[in-house]
Amino acid sequence: KNIVILISGRGSNMQAIVEAELGDARVAAVIANRPDAAGLAWAAERGIATVALDHKAYADRLAFDRALMAAIDDFAPDLVVLAGFMRILTAEFTAHYRDRLLNIHPSLLPSFPGLDTHRRAIEAGCKLAGCTVHFVTAELDHGPIVAQAAVPVLDQDDPASLAARVLKEEHRIYPAAVRDVLAGRLRIDGLRVVASA
Ligand code: GRF
Repeated sequence: KNIVILISGRGSNMQAIVEAELGDARVAAVIANRPDAAGLAWAAERGIATVALDHKAYADRLAFDRALMAAIDDFAPDLVVLAGFMRILTAEFTAHYRDRLLNIHPSLLPSFPGLDTHRRAIEAGCKLAGCTVHFVTAELDHGPIVAQAAVPVLDQDDPASLAARVLKEEHRIYPAAVRDVLAGRLRIDGLRVVASA
């Protein structure tokens, strides 16, 4: 089975998935919307196909998304994984990959969709923060939840210290979620993801 991972930067979640034991699945390609994304070089060094598709070279969001779909589909993916991919996707894109597109978000959704989640969780006085793996739908940071992990928010936390604690959990739950989805262990039932019978 083929996995295509989309990144915009560092790519530490992508690295965690590449290094995970995924059975008969493999990361066929890593694609970035920023040619200088550090994760691209990391993947290329490991012999993984890489593609850089600069979103600034396209007239609008739909033109970029169509080029991105063509680049992704070259690798015949069974699963497309967003890992720190910082672009809002069109409904055409999310419909094309319906039920085979995952994202990780650094909050306990449905709390704190969008950016700057750790600062917002601290300012709201949350005692728990965390991360969420979910199927992607047209609505940003929504969609059926596959997995979550929670961590404590400590009195002395700043956004960076909380982000580091959450990121460790991201690296644990994202490869596991990818494995479970590819193995067909899960089924989408409305907004819920449940064990397949
Ligand atoms: C992660 O915290 C992810 O949840 C968020 O952006 C960060 C990406 O980190 N959307 P990396 O590129 O996977 O290291």
